[in-house]
Amino acid sequence: MSVRVGIIGVGVMGADHARVLASQVPGAVLQALYDADPTRAKAVADETGAQSVAADPLALVRDPSIDAVLVASPDATHKDLTLACLAARKPVLCEKPLAPTTAECREVLAAESKLGRRLVQVGYMRRFDPAYVDMKMTMLSGRLGAPLIFHCVHRNVSAPSWFDSRMAVSNSAVHEFDIARWMLDTELTDIQVFRPKAARADSPGAPVFLVLETACGQLVNVEIFIDATYGYDVRGELVCEKGTVSLGAPGRTEVSLDLAHGSAYPADWRPRFADAYRLQNQAWIAAIAGGASAGASAWDGYAAAAVAEAGLQSLAENRSVSISLVEKATLYK
Ligand SMILES: NC(=O)c1ccc[n+]([C@@H]2O[C@H](COP(=O)([O-])OP(=O)(O)OC[C@H]3O[C@@H](n4cnc5c(N)ncnc54)[C@H](O)[C@@H]3O)[C@@H](O)[C@H]2O)c1
Repeated sequence: MSVRVGIIGVGVMGADHARVLASQVPGAVLQALYDADPTRAKAVADETGAQSVAADPLALVRDPSIDAVLVASPDATHKDLTLACLAARKPVLCEKPLAPTTAECREVLAAESKLGRRLVQVGYMRRFDPAYVDMKMTMLSGRLGAPLIFHCVHRNVSAPSWFDSRMAVSNSAVHEFDIARWMLDTELTDIQVFRPKAARADSPGAPVFLVLETACGQLVNVEIFIDATYGYDVRGELVCEKGTVSLGAPGRTEVSLDLAHGSAYPADWRPRFADAYRLQNQAWIAAIAGGASAGASAWDGYAAAAVAEAGLQSLAENRSVSISLVEKATLYK
């Protein structure tokens, strides 16, 4: 069975999804693309062989020749487009975050719960990353004992033009919130966000350091540094009672040359998480074809947004903030 996909937003991430769906996902047919910049949409359609370019995002959602929608437009557009997909009863893979605020996420939860079936998958692709999956399998083997502390580091080369300093929490750290919830299989309950006093106050990409607690009593710490300059670098180490498990080196190979040894950093997330995006999109299409669901749910999107919202409050008020969640609907249990 083939699944005809429409993509809304084909900038850096949406164009990457278009390439992956067109060439690496059995069963996916790239049916239509829409972007607020029609020239961009046409260029990506020409490159990927997408069948058509849509003139309007809601028309794309309602088009009967489209079975499923991938939303990769800016964060502020996610909620309305996801609700439109639910109204059309179409599966949607919405890039993270599900929405910038919990109020918007709750609208999505309410609409999906009313339908009574999971149609929303959120693009928290690290759940499909082979290194994180290995880390979780190692932890679940029990050899290391119970997990106690999860250290997470997320560095980028530089902040994009649209980035503001709150987005280190609401746009970047949400990946860490989701992977910590998934890794430890629990909710995050408290958060405090620190900013080094030595960092430039006018730099949106300056580092922030987050300390979180889980409902099971573990600690999670996260460094987000968007203007780190040297490369795209994601690190993780899970400290357990008898040992630790860490993500491996950034590159697939290491070079020894000129009295030095090392591996290269990618310039951004696409090479580092190429396997994760491919496996995520394959799981999405396979789940649709099988009438099932996969990956992070709307609840997971909501929970990450709730942590981010508490984190932004912590940043503004310079104190630890408790994270509260609404009651989980049966659909997500
Ligand atoms: N999962 C990940 O690892 C990951 C990585 C990067 C970005 N993202 C997410 O993907 C989304 C897009 O990020 P990006 O880096 O590709 O940004 P981008 O700026 O490169 O691309 C956004 C695209 O959306 C288009 N656009 C703007 N308004 C629109 C609208 N109303 N409707 C349709 N298209 C519109 C723009 O013209 C642009 O082409 C963001 O929500 C971001 O958080 C996820």
